[in-house]
Parts: sequence; C-alpha cells; structure tokens
Amino acid sequence: MLASIPVDELRTSKPIRVVAEAAAKLGFPAYLVGGYVRDLLLGKPAKDIDFVCVGSGVKLAEIVAAMLPGSKLTVYKNFGTALVRWQDYSLEFVGARKESYRRHSRKPIVEDGTLEDDQRRRDFTINALAISLNQDDFGQLIDPFNGVEDLQKKIIRTPLDPDVTFSDDPLRMLRAIRFATRLGFDIEPDTVAGIIKNVDRIAIVSQERITDELNKIIMADKPSFGFKLLFHTGLLHKIFPELAALQGVEKKNGMAHKDNFYHTLQVLDNVAAVSDNLWLRWAALLHDIAKPATKRFKPGTGWTFHGHEDKGARMVPKIFRRMKLPMGEPMHYVKKLVRLHLRPIALVKDNITDSAVRRLLFEAGNDIDDLMILCRADITSKIHEKVKRYLRNFDKVEEKLRDVEARDHLKNFQPPVSGEVIMQTFGLKPDRIVGEIKDAIKEAILEGQIPNEYDKAYELMLSLGRAKGLQPVADHSQNENKKQ
Ligand code: CTP
Repeated sequence: MLASIPVDELRTSKPIRVVAEAAAKLGFPAYLVGGYVRDLLLGKPAKDIDFVCVGSGVKLAEIVAAMLPGSKLTVYKNFGTALVRWQDYSLEFVGARKESYRRHSRKPIVEDGTLEDDQRRRDFTINALAISLNQDDFGQLIDPFNGVEDLQKKIIRTPLDPDVTFSDDPLRMLRAIRFATRLGFDIEPDTVAGIIKNVDRIAIVSQERITDELNKIIMADKPSFGFKLLFHTGLLHKIFPELAALQGVEKKNGMAHKDNFYHTLQVLDNVAAVSDNLWLRWAALLHDIAKPATKRFKPGTGWTFHGHEDKGARMVPKIFRRMKLPMGEPMHYVKKLVRLHLRPIALVKDNITDSAVRRLLFEAGNDIDDLMILCRADITSKIHEKVKRYLRNFDKVEEKLRDVEARDHLKNFQPPVSGEVIMQTFGLKPDRIVGEIKDAIKEAILEGQIPNEYDKAYELMLSLGRAKGLQPVADHSQNENKKQ
C-alpha cells in the first residue's frame, strides 16, 4: 500500500512553500520530482529534495536562496543545475530538458524541454514521478509513465526503451540493481535485457561512482540479491572479476567443491543480518577471494584451497586500490580479517593450548569480536544440526578467548618492557639485540612461560641479556611506568 500525497504537509513545509512562491514570482511552473516523490509515496519523507521547473533552474534557485536566510547556493554552470543547502535540507534545482548524450561520456548535451520531456529522460518510472507546486493544481501527481503502478507492483522499469536509457547513462544499470536490492523490487525483464545489452558501456563510468553504488548494494538488508543480479547481467564480470571468478563447481573423481560465489553471498547476508559495519561486510565479500587461485585437487583428499587466507589478504590492497576504496585503516582491517578468518575454527578442538588462543588475541587485537562475527557467518552448511554444532563450538572458543584475555590482556599488547628500558639497563645504543630481547619476551608471554607483567618480563630480560654476554649497568626494576 502506497502512502497518499500529504498535500497539507507539503503546503506548510517551509522550503517547499518558498520554492512554490519563488516559482510563481518568476512565472515558471515548478514540480517536486525524482527520489523525493518516490520516497514520499513509500512513506519515507526525505530532506534531499529535487525540483524541476519549466524555465531556468538556476534562476529559481537564486530566488529561493535569497528567501531562505542562512542558506548556501552552489551553481553547477556546466550542468545548468543548482543546489541550495538550508538547515538540514538539500534542495536541487534543474530546468526541464530534453537530453541527448554523447556516446563516450555521461555528460549530457542539454536542450530546454517540457516537464514530460524531463520525466522521460529520467532513469526509472518510479523516479520519474512529479508533484505540482503550482497554484491551480498544487499537490497533483503527474505520472505519465505509470510509476505509481510500478511502485505498487514493486518493479524497476525504464520510462523509455531501456537500451536508450542505459546507453545514455550506463551508471543507471547499477542504480537499477541498487534500487531493486534496497527496495526489494524486481527488475522488469526488458529492463534486465537492456542491462545485458549495455554491460560494456559501464567502462565509461568513473570508478568512484561504481564503487559508491557497490557500497550501497553491500549496505542493503540482503546484499546477495544485488550481487546475483550483477552476476546474471554480466556486470559483475566487468566491475569485480575476482568475485565473479568464485562462481562454479568443479567435480573430479566424483568429488565436488562448494560454489564459492554463492557461499560468499550467504556469508555476506549472514554478516549483514547482525552488523551495519561496511568494512566487516567487505571482509565477508573478500574472505574467500583467493580460492580460485589456490584451488588444487589431491587424489584421496579432495579439493583444497591451501593458503587462500594469506593469498586473499595479499589481494585486498590491490582490490581496494582499483576500487578507489580507502587505503588506510579500512583496508588494513579488511586485510587482517581475511588473513585471520580460519583461525577461530582451528581453536575449536578440545585440546587446544592457551598459547594458540593468546596468539589469536594478540593478532586480532580489538577486532576479535568482528572476526568472530565473520567466522560464525562463514558456517553455511545446509545441514541444520551441523551449523548448530559449529556455533556451539564457537561459544566455547569465545569463552576461552574471554578467559585468556581476562588473565593476560593481550588485545592491545604493548611490550611490558620497552626498548628504552632494555637499552638503559644494558647501556646499549639502538641495536638489533634490543629487538631480539623484546621479541623473546613477547614469545615467552604468548607461550605462557611468563605472565604479561613488568616484573617477570624484567627478570627474563636480565637473564636473556646475560645469556648474550651483556651486563646490567642500571637498575630499572622499579620502573614507574610498569603495568601489572
Ligand atoms: N537520475 C537519473 N539518472 C541518474 C541519476 C539520477 O535519471 N543517473 C534522476 C532520477 O529521477 C533520480 C533523480 O535524478 O530520482 C535524483 O537522483 P539521485 O539524488 O541520485 O537519486 P534518488 O532517486 O534521489 O535516490 P537516492 O537519494 O537514494 O540515491
């Protein structure tokens, strides 16, 4: 059920009232249009509002900005559009136009047109709805392409022949999939065929825009829906070939491995069900990315993907760079989770030593909880009992992790004895030997030979130094910075 147009609310909304007044002053018919109208009918009023007028959108924006104290006007001369920011509203203005596009660019050649010309050149029928802001028919819905019907039927469809709409602006192919994924809509078959026909045209779209759409798909409630569409239309092979390469099942000597593409999508959905962290979702998407590159068949054993976690981690920076994703903390976080994603599984065995648990805590640091979310999500067996058994085992692993962390505080491991103290105690200048002693102390802590405490670490440092022929020249046993 769609919401009805809240005409009275529109009349009393300050920015909308001001636009209607400004348009009347100029004698330009003006309309609400695009995503704002779509979301209004879906019962989700937004603060990003698109306006179209039959006349100069820039002129209208200038008057609106003058009537809204404290607003900020930006004019995009090349596109003939303008943006007014006022309070937490973003008001976008454009003059109605007919557009034709150059073949190798998304930048349109603009010609003035009627409201219907403008609606026709928009991406989807559900985004081509307009509401009049004019005195004689204020609040009237103008829907020449049956957008309301498509909203009701939950369908993404282009107003024009899809071949024209997508060829004009190939980014719309990703937008179609993004809207379908986020709204839970289907893409009408002719529109899907239009995407399939135009996949090569995605090459003229900037990587930033592609990645932006991809992130929006990843952030949907059920991102697998979008990735399946990307795969079946062939877009995925163009924009993310490593992910497309995960698809497929090979069989040898009657033994088949699982389809790593569909498995990955299930893991992504599982993570999405419990976390809105975009980078954790990326880690899910990339956790098995090196499986095709590491796949081997060993007679007697079956399929192996030995080392896929390390190779996958090494692929993360390359993929992030190409996708123009942030190369700082997010990349390092995703790389770490990919590298460690098998480790908690290895801790499931009953006879596991505390030192293995300590090493994982040390390496995962503050991301240990996210790593556990990923590992739980990675259990995608169809056999319900098997999944339950694994998850119970993970409960035990988490108990062990909590237990060891409470004792040894390894999540944010700082060497209890610093390089400074080692140098001062033995009267050393910076030297390889200092690093060796520090490492040996860290190893002893991780192995559980000494607790993660200053006094014990200091004692060990003295004996390690002596074993290397060093003599203490200062006493730092009462270090004021020591942590216990
Ligand atoms: N539009 C289009 N083709 C594009 C981008 C946008 O036809 N490649 C039109 C659509 O009518 C769209 C409107 O411009 O509704 C506004 O675009 P935008 O703000 O990007 O999208 P919204 O539909 O508002 O949705 P969202 O804010 O969720 O991205």
